[in-house]
Amino acid sequence: MIIVERAEPGDPATRALLQEWKPGKKASTTGRFLYLIARIGTEPAGVLEGHHDYGSWSDLKDYCHLGENDLGSYISSLYVRPAHRRQGVADALLDWFIEDARQERSVAVVAHPDEEGRGRGARIALNQKHGLEFARPLEAWDEPWLMVLPLS
Ligand SMILES: CC(C)(COP(=O)(O)OP(=O)(O)OC[C@H]1O[C@@H](n2cnc3c(N)ncnc32)[C@H](O)[C@@H]1OP(=O)(O)O)[C@@H](O)C(=O)NCCC(=O)NCCS
Repeated sequence: MIIVERAEPGDPATRALLQEWKPGKKASTTGRFLYLIARIGTEPAGVLEGHHDYGSWSDLKDYCHLGENDLGSYISSLYVRPAHRRQGVADALLDWFIEDARQERSVAVVAHPDEEGRGRGARIALNQKHGLEFARPLEAWDEPWLMVLPLS
């Protein structure tokens, strides 16, 4: 069974998972970020780092009418240990985060699937499964880079 819970930024298991995903990456201690950890049994299996104060709407054609008080929820990292992939861990983390975003009255959930080729298809498929789609950039010549799920 997959259990998802909120973790403190200093939580050792959370830090270890973030390090596995991006060596050198540290959990922020500013309080802006929230951390979710997923466990299978007692085994740490995945981590999500995000926040609920995203406001950079001006680059997106369908969202540039939003102002700085229209806060969105941003997923900055999502990582599942290779041994635990394809068992629904990322699904469980995203479900938790999106529900929290709704509770926080976020206007949208935003994610930037890393451009790095390896695994990009999985990242995009995962986001699409949860309703996120690439948003049109304001400038027609830019490639879409952010995926968005509007909540209101
Ligand atoms: C992308 C990642 C988070 C998926 O984690 P996961 O726990 O294996 O994903 P889940 O088992 O919950 O799968 C959920 C959905 O994601 C998509 N997905 C996951 N792995 C996939 C793969 N290898 N190929 C295609 N789609 C995939 C599918 O839509 C899947 O739904 P389905 O099982 O109904 O088909 C994981 O592979 C990972 O940590 N990769 C490295 C880090 C990374 O790319 N993070 C993304 C944020 S930048």
